[in-house]
Amino acid sequence: MASEPLKEDRREKFKEKILQFQFTPKDIKAYLDRFVIKQEEAKKVLSVAVCDHYNQVKEALMGRGPAHYVKQNVLLVGPSGVGKTYLVRCLADCIGVPMVKADATKFSETGYVGADVEDLVRELIQQAEGDVEIAQFGIIYLDEVDKLATSHFIGRDVSGRGVQSNLLKLLEETDVPIKAAHDILGQMQSLFDFQKGAKPPRKTINTRYILFIVSGAFERLSEIVQKRIRRSHLGFQPHGPEGIPSDIIAEAKTADFVEYGLEPEFIGRLPVRVFCQPLGKDDLFHVLRDSEGSILKQYKSSFAAYGIELKFTEEALQLIAEQALEEKTGARGLMTICEKILRPFRFELPRSGIQELEIDGLTVLDPEKKLAEILKRIEETKKSRDNEQIDQFLLEFYKTTDIHIHFDQEAIEALKKEAHEKGIAVIDLCKEKFKNYSLGLKLIKNNNGISDFTLTKEDLRDPEETLNRWIAASYKTGSRSQEQ
Ligand SMILES: Nc1ncnc2c1ncn2[C@@H]1O[C@H](COP(=O)(O)OP(=O)(O)OP(=O)(O)O)[C@@H](O)[C@H]1O
Ligand SMILES: [Mg+2]
Repeated sequence: MASEPLKEDRREKFKEKILQFQFTPKDIKAYLDRFVIKQEEAKKVLSVAVCDHYNQVKEALMGRGPAHYVKQNVLLVGPSGVGKTYLVRCLADCIGVPMVKADATKFSETGYVGADVEDLVRELIQQAEGDVEIAQFGIIYLDEVDKLATSHFIGRDVSGRGVQSNLLKLLEETDVPIKAAHDILGQMQSLFDFQKGAKPPRKTINTRYILFIVSGAFERLSEIVQKRIRRSHLGFQPHGPEGIPSDIIAEAKTADFVEYGLEPEFIGRLPVRVFCQPLGKDDLFHVLRDSEGSILKQYKSSFAAYGIELKFTEEALQLIAEQALEEKTGARGLMTICEKILRPFRFELPRSGIQELEIDGLTVLDPEKKLAEILKRIEETKKSRDNEQIDQFLLEFYKTTDIHIHFDQEAIEALKKEAHEKGIAVIDLCKEKFKNYSLGLKLIKNNNGISDFTLTKEDLRDPEETLNRWIAASYKTGSRSQEQ
C-alpha cells in the first residue's frame, strides 16, 4: 500500500496531466506507435476519440464544460492477441489517467453473483488513490463484451442482456454510490469519520466523463456482415469459394451487432467503432524487434540478472515469428514460442560461467542441441582451467621450496573430481590437502637429499598419512625411500 504522501503525489500528477492536456491526435498516435505494431486505423481512430474526450474533460475541470456533452465511448473489435488491451493500456499511460480493466463475463444481472458493474467505477477510485475527482476522468476497459450477446448465455440468472442494460446508464451518465451497499465496513468508516468532525465525504461519483472502451473478438461477426452484403447485392456478388475476406469485419454496422446478439441500446451508446487486424508473420517480427514493450526485453533482463547477455539474430526473430503465427493466438504466440526455446537455457545457464547467449536460427530450430554444445564447451573450459590451476599450484610449490611434486594422471583426475564435488576451485583444494607438505618434504630432503616426489591416486586418499610414512622412511634409510 502506498503511503499518504506518495498517494498525494500521484493525485497531483494525475490532475496536472489532465489540466495540461494538449495532445493532438498525432501526438497520441506517435506514442502508440512506439509500442503497438500495425493497427494503424485503430490507432488513428482511438487517438482522435481520446483527444476529443480529454479536451472536453479539461474544459469541464476548468468549469467551462459544455451543457450537453455526448460521450464517445469506443467499441474495439478484433481477434485475440492483436493488441486490443495493449492499445488501451498504452493510451491510459500516455494521457496519464487511471484505468480499470475487467471482463464483462464476470458480471451478472443481479449483482449478487460475481461483481456488480458499478464496482468498476469504484475500482477506478481506488486506482486514482481514492481521489473521486480524478477517478471521474478515468478509463474503464471492458473486455469480452461479445460474450454478452444473448445467444451466448444459457442459464437462469446469468443473463448477458441484463448486464448490458445495467451498463447502459453507466455508459451515458449516472451517479454511482462511492460506497457499495454491500460494503458495510466502508459505510461504518464514513459514519465514524463524520462523527469525528471530518467534512462529510462525497457520496457519489458521476460517470459523465468516464471514457468506456469495450472490446471483444466477435468471431461470427464477419459471417453476418458477409451475409448482409451478399443480400444487398442479390446475385451480383459471386459466391467466391475463397471464404470470408479477413477485412470484411470492418464493414460491420449497428444492425450486424444487433444480429450478433447485442441490444440496440447498448451498441448505440458505443458510437466509435475500431477494428484491429490480425497480425501476420512480418507484424509479429516487428512486435518482437521494434515494440518498446517487446517480450524480448523481459527475457533479456531475466538473463541479465545472472550476468548473461541475451542476444537474438534477425534470422532467429524471423523463425520465432513464423512459429508464433502457427499458434494462431496473435502476439501471445510469441511468448509461447520464446518460452519453449529459452526454457532449457534458463534452467542450465545461471552461474555456469557463461556471459553471453546468442539465439540464432539453428537455436530456434533445435534449442536442446545448442544447449548441449554450450554445456560441452563449459565443461572443456572448466577442465583446462583445472589443469592450469594444478600446474600453478605445483609451480608455486617449487618456487617456495625448491622441491618438485608430480601428480600422476589418475591423481589429477581424482583432484578435479573432488574439487568439483565440493564446489571449490582445484587450487584451493590442493592448498588445503598439501598444507603440511612444504615443511614435511623439506625435512625429507634434509634427511636423504631427495627433491622429486610423485603422488598417486592412492597417496591422495590420506595425504597426511602419506607424508608421515615418507618422513618415517627417510629417517630409517637416510637414503631415497619413496615407494614409486
Ligand atoms: N500490435 C501489437 N504490437 C505490439 N505488441 C502487441 C501487439 N499485439 C499484441 N501485443 C503483445 O501481446 C500481448 C497480448 O496482447 P493483448 O492483451 O493486447 O491482446 P488482446 O487483443 O487484448 O487479446 P484478447 O482478445 O485475447 O484479450 C500484449 O501485452 C503485447 O505485449
Ligand atoms: Mg485483451
